[in-house]
Amino acid sequence: MRIVVAGVGYVGLSLSVLLAQHNAVTAVDVVEEKVELINSRRSPIRDVEIEDYLAHRDLDLTATTDGASAYREADLVVIATPTNYDPTKDFFDTSLVEDVIDLVVSVNPGVVMVIKSTVPVGYTQGLTERYPKARFLFSPEFLREGHALSDNLHPSRIIVGIPTHTPHHEELEEAADTFAHLLAEGAQDTDIPTLLMASTEAEAVKLFANTYLALRVAYFNELDTYAAVRHLDASKIIQGVGYDPRIGSHYNNPSFGYGGYCLPKDTKQLLANYQDVPQNLIGAIVDANRTRKDFVATELLHRADQLRAQGVAQPVIGVFRLAMKTGSDNFRASSIQGVMKRIKAKGIPVIVFEPTLDDPDFYGSEVTHDLEAFKTRSDIIITNRWDTELGDVADKVYTRDLFKRD
Ligand SMILES: NC(=O)c1ccc[n+]([C@@H]2O[C@H](COP(=O)([O-])OP(=O)(O)OC[C@H]3O[C@@H](n4cnc5c(N)ncnc54)[C@H](O)[C@@H]3O)[C@@H](O)[C@H]2O)c1
Repeated sequence: MRIVVAGVGYVGLSLSVLLAQHNAVTAVDVVEEKVELINSRRSPIRDVEIEDYLAHRDLDLTATTDGASAYREADLVVIATPTNYDPTKDFFDTSLVEDVIDLVVSVNPGVVMVIKSTVPVGYTQGLTERYPKARFLFSPEFLREGHALSDNLHPSRIIVGIPTHTPHHEELEEAADTFAHLLAEGAQDTDIPTLLMASTEAEAVKLFANTYLALRVAYFNELDTYAAVRHLDASKIIQGVGYDPRIGSHYNNPSFGYGGYCLPKDTKQLLANYQDVPQNLIGAIVDANRTRKDFVATELLHRADQLRAQGVAQPVIGVFRLAMKTGSDNFRASSIQGVMKRIKAKGIPVIVFEPTLDDPDFYGSEVTHDLEAFKTRSDIIITNRWDTELGDVADKVYTRDLFKRD
């Protein structure tokens, strides 16, 4: 099968590699450098399995910026372009998905398009009305950044959603089955739970799954806030709570807030989808993240005040790494940035240690690659996740990473 994947980010690249084990795959992107890297078998993103598979495995994979030519020859198109949250519309901006759809429809109107981008609930059904001749499926993607290919080689589940009111329904049911098989064929596991459902339900699965994850992060963060204010040991409380097998001791490490590309935007989108539907919890999950970052910033301002009282004229706060997770080079929407914004708004000078950032400036703050100078110049060092490199300045470090893991 000739499969074309549109957008080679975390989702598109991992799927391209997965599918190129058994199919001819063309990966399309608008960024020339990404295309060149993939064609020279190097990964544009940091991901151990993707790097290994590109370098050493037998893959039928080429990349191009010429979308029209690629889509024209495709038997199946997978769309994995970004859907950023648009705060003015209070909804996802799906225009980059539609850019691909418009191009595909113009050169290959009958081809099945599988949307892997996360979209608002009901979006794919709406597309079938806007493009009555086109064929769409929606398949939610559950990968974690940094483990993108691994999560597709060992998927927790495969879900494919089919629009309900479309003249192509029967054909799409067959295509959904085929697509689920293609994903399973590329995986290393067998007996992967596989569900076919309405596209609107599949879109809901994605947003409800991510909102549950955000809820869990927000819950343990709020527990930690309570413990900090009441001078209690949060780690003991969390351990005690987690030994209940219904709760469990995983995914419970406090942080500055949930962050990364998906959780902040997906929770907001789900809340927007609740319009006219009663709810308390979804709105609270969105609000809780703001409250947590406000709390962390307030703690830091208090520490800065204490340093001033001890004679430090203008305490400097050092931001150690901008990413959410240990070892990650991706800092889209990381919660430490939210904290940084808040303390800077109060006039605290901030310097940033981020070796993956070449720019000497990050939103008006100096970026340094010199760890020793960073440690010396910072009066307080904040880090979302503990790093052994900070061992010699532990007394300066402010983190809520209680268990030294993600
Ligand atoms: N990153 C994740 O962990 C994750 C997990 C599940 C779902 N998703 C969803 O998948 C989608 C993609 O996320 P991502 O993290 O892979 O994004 P990304 O930003 O890493 O990659 C998207 C790619 O699309 C390219 N692109 C933009 N416009 C294009 C166009 N018109 N034609 C071809 N390529 C184009 C960009 O250049 C970029 O390389 C989003 O909707 C996201 O919510 C992401």
